[in-house]
Amino acid sequence: MDNLHQLLVNRRSIRRYTNEAIDPESVKLILEAALLAPTSKSSRPWQFVVVEDKDMLQRLSECKPAGAGPIAKASLAIVVAADPTLSDPWVEDASIAAAFMQLQAEDLGLGSCWIQVRGRFASDGTPSEEWVQQLLGMPEDLPVVCIITLGHKDEERKPVDTSKLLWEKVHIGTWKEV
Ligand SMILES: Cc1cc2nc3c(=O)[nH]c(=O)nc-3n(C[C@H](O)[C@H](O)[C@H](O)COP(=O)(O)O)c2cc1C
Repeated sequence: MDNLHQLLVNRRSIRRYTNEAIDPESVKLILEAALLAPTSKSSRPWQFVVVEDKDMLQRLSECKPAGAGPIAKASLAIVVAADPTLSDPWVEDASIAAAFMQLQAEDLGLGSCWIQVRGRFASDGTPSEEWVQQLLGMPEDLPVVCIITLGHKDEERKPVDTSKLLWEKVHIGTWKEV
């Protein structure tokens, strides 16, 4: 897509994917988007774990009882974590990188969905972050923010209706109570 605004309007969370694999060049571009993301003081505190193995995707999808189903259906998932000792706003740093990956995926015509991990719990009460860390052999002191699922789209979603944007959330000059 050659127009960023059009890409932003068209991007929707995609939770169903075909079985077609994502080509390695696209995966590289998506990871490059993450590594290009701005970070506080250029600290680059993030780490990314790319998961393609179907069994592993299934087990990752069990990191929380609701909302993680797309992981099992994805061609590939990217776990986004960050080191809080390297950056005070590590959540923001990781989030921007995750969003950049979603935008790059959309630009490649691929579907993606953000799966929240931080602050969530598996059905046995294990924090979702620990669940993911243990499965992937990640360090305990590297909190997981989210998992970005990726795949070729197997559902069509309408672009956002820009006439319904919440302009009342925007306050010009000073706060205006609505
Ligand atoms: C911080 C954050 C957490 C989210 N967590 C989940 C999630 O755990 N599971 C899921 O299916 N979608 C999740 N989403 C996707 C949202 O549900 C989705 O972005 C929202 O409904 C708007 O739809 P759209 O992305 O199609 O515009 C999350 C999105 C964000 C930004």
